[in-house]
Amino acid sequence: MQLYIDTASIDEIREAASMGVLDGVTTNPSLVAKEGVDFHERLGEICQAVPGPVSAEVIATEHEAMLEEAMALTEIADNIVIKLPSTVDGLRACRALSDKGIRTNLTLCFQPLQAMLVAKAGAFLVSPFLGRLDDLGQDGMELIQQIRTIYDNYGYETKILAASIRHPLHLVQCAMLGADVATVPFKIIKQMMHHPLTDSGLEKFLADWAAMKKPSNQLV
Ligand code: G3P
Repeated sequence: MQLYIDTASIDEIREAASMGVLDGVTTNPSLVAKEGVDFHERLGEICQAVPGPVSAEVIATEHEAMLEEAMALTEIADNIVIKLPSTVDGLRACRALSDKGIRTNLTLCFQPLQAMLVAKAGAFLVSPFLGRLDDLGQDGMELIQQIRTIYDNYGYETKILAASIRHPLHLVQCAMLGADVATVPFKIIKQMMHHPLTDSGLEKFLADWAAMKKPSNQLV
């Protein structure tokens, strides 16, 4: 499964990239607003830090205006992916951009038929929002499973990008169901390599080693 980071913080992105396992970045208007920086300037920095796909969302809700914004965003770098809402206008814009060879990420996907139509319109990525469905008492993971089955039944090439990930168990379940990508907040990326038994086990190994009688010419 590919791993993207879901943030607009350049510090978090650089630190995650330094781990050597980061495949891409997703941003959204809420994440950029939190940073309080110039959107295009920050995207330029992110695209330099990470060579993989970097999703940048349009603000327009009407498809012609979405296309204008998308064209300006594609000027920033070759690895920009245009993020569009899963609406009828988003679908139209998706088709127009796909026809020009521009990659898209159809976001705010909450039901399998949205995922089916955006795949038909040539989306590069579809973003089902797991956590927000779970928040409503629905099963976000069931949506991943439904989309996986539909895409496999018909050979749709759109990649399933699991979004709105709230905890490490979401990631385990996504990987087991065959999501192609997961986009994850920095806090959860750090949790992925953490287990208390790893910490206590390592502490014990080092303590035992330190207590061992060593020959006088041994360095550690
Ligand atoms: O970037 C889209 C998505 O991951 C947002 O997650 O936590 O705001 O539902 P959340």
